[in-house]
Amino acid sequence: MPEPRRPLVAANWKMNKTVVEAREFLERLGPSLEDLGEVDVVVCPPSTALSATAAQANGTSVRIAAQNMHFEESGAYTGEVSAAMLVDVGADAVVLGHSERRQLFGETDEALARKVPAALAAGLLPILCIGETEAERDAGETETVLRRQLSADLADVDPARLGDIVIAYEPIWAIGTGRTATTEQAQEAVSFVRGMLAGRDADAAASARLLYGGSMKPGNASELMAQPDVDGGLVGGASLDPDDFLAICQAAA
Ligand code: PGA
Repeated sequence: MPEPRRPLVAANWKMNKTVVEAREFLERLGPSLEDLGEVDVVVCPPSTALSATAAQANGTSVRIAAQNMHFEESGAYTGEVSAAMLVDVGADAVVLGHSERRQLFGETDEALARKVPAALAAGLLPILCIGETEAERDAGETETVLRRQLSADLADVDPARLGDIVIAYEPIWAIGTGRTATTEQAQEAVSFVRGMLAGRDADAAASARLLYGGSMKPGNASELMAQPDVDGGLVGGASLDPDDFLAICQAAA
C-alpha cells in the first residue's frame, strides 16, 4: 500500500500584503495551526515579504513559497531572482507557471521546462500550475491542454522525482471569478493528471500531491478536497483573510 498523501493548502497572496500585513497574518494564523494535524500549510507572499515571513515561520509548521523564479543561477536578468536566492532568504517552495504569469507576463512552457528542474535541484518544492481557459473547456480541449502543459513543463524532470512536485489544476475560468469547478470537473482533471504522471512513473504518480485552485473558499473547500485525487488547494482571494484561510486548512486536515 502506498503511503497516504499528506494534504497541502497554499495561500497565494499574489501582489498583496506589505511586510507588516504579512507578519500580522502569520501571527493570527500561527497558534491555530498547532492543533491542525495532518496538513502542510504553505504561504506564498510577494517577494518583498519572503525574507520576513520565512524568518517568522522558522520553527513553525508553516512553509514559505515564492510566486515565481528564473531558471538560471545568476547573471544579467534584470528583475529576476534565482532558486538559490529564494533558498537564501528561507523559502521552501516556489509557485511556477501560474496562469497570471502565463497570460500577463509571457511565461512559456519552454521556460517552465527549465524552472521545474532548477527548483528541484535547489531543494525547493515546485508547485506547478496548469489549467485551461473557458474557451478551451467549451471546445472539449481540457485534456489536450493539460497534456500539452504537463508534457512540456515536466519534460526534463527525472521520472522518479515527479512525486516531489506539487501540481495545481487551476481552470483559468475559475480563478478570481467566484466560479468554482464542480467536484466532478476537479476530480476528472486531477485524475487525468495523475494518470499522465503514472505513464512515466507509477510510484511517483501515487505520491504526487495534486491540488485544485480557482475560487476555493471555506464553503466549498471540503467537498473539493474530499475528491479522491484532490490532495489540497491553491487559494487566492480567500487566503488573504486568516480566518477564511484557516477554515480551508481545517477542511483539508
Ligand atoms: P482564487 O485564485 O482563489 O482567487 O480564484 C486562485 C489562484 O489564482 O491561485
